[in-house]
Amino acid sequence: MEVIHTVEWMKQVARQVRAEGRLTGLVPTMGALHAGHISLIEAARRDASPVIVSIFVNPKQFAPSEDYTKYPRDLEADRQKLEEAGVDFLFAPSVEEMYPTGFRTSVNVEGLADRLEGKIRPGHFRGVATVVLKLLEIAAPQFAYFGRKDAQQARIILQMAADLALESEIVVCPIVREPDGLALSSRNRYLSPEERQGSTVLYRALSRARRAIEEGEREAMKIGALVRKELADEPLAAPDYVEIVDADSFEPIMRLTRSCLVLLAARFGSTRLIDNMQVEIAVSPGGGAGAVTCSL
Ligand code: PAJ
Repeated sequence: MEVIHTVEWMKQVARQVRAEGRLTGLVPTMGALHAGHISLIEAARRDASPVIVSIFVNPKQFAPSEDYTKYPRDLEADRQKLEEAGVDFLFAPSVEEMYPTGFRTSVNVEGLADRLEGKIRPGHFRGVATVVLKLLEIAAPQFAYFGRKDAQQARIILQMAADLALESEIVVCPIVREPDGLALSSRNRYLSPEERQGSTVLYRALSRARRAIEEGEREAMKIGALVRKELADEPLAAPDYVEIVDADSFEPIMRLTRSCLVLLAARFGSTRLIDNMQVEIAVSPGGGAGAVTCSL
């Protein structure tokens, strides 16, 4: 695996790869790699060669009060994991390399970026969209891989790619979970043993919603109430929001439609975790509601 630190060299490699007619897959990350990231790399390896992974803790997506300085960084451990995962290039630029003095441009995906996570973390998705667009420009991949763990982020990047007619195809991959259901996240390592135990409530709450939906419940308010009640039973969880939204608009819905998401965010001490479940309701040929699939 070749490690690349400069934008110019990464662009040079990307040009070379394209000239050889090869298909590149890019997996953007902020490092502190775990099995969730590795699952994106595996998906990339199935579709593309070479696979590029970027590690860049993007200051523009952290608010001043957030954990930018204490965000876990261990490039050497990450490098080894990427080597084992069969990655071809690691792109690890410095902040000065990505945002040189005088950098002024930002990308805002109107509406989608202001709700839910974007409301609680103002400017967050502007930072995400800006860095992702720049990474796509530098690495020029045919495919770029994102996790549904960050469902709103994935939706915003899909919108940006469509609006700006980007060359890269955005691929959204399933959530990887611990055996007890907690979605893998670089932030899980901040949890105390008690908080780690308590954090399993997120999966339980989503599973409660799944059971109700599978039993036929379609009223978003009722499903939301079940999720909130489950969360309320865990004293260490301080919920930020529980919302049921249309998968396309991310607007709250009253009744479950063909494609929607149950989204939640909660704090455990100073650690904020998010999770979600995707719900697809097939429409039967007669027009009635058909089979329901809940993906956790
Ligand atoms: P990061 O949190 O490092 O996540 C990198 C990618 O891994 C994201 O697409 C995220 O959705 C995915 N991911 C994280 N946990 C996952 C899990 N348990 N299962 C499946 N995929 C998972 O998200 C970011 O970095 C940044 O915002 C970034 C897109 C790199 C822009 O800076």
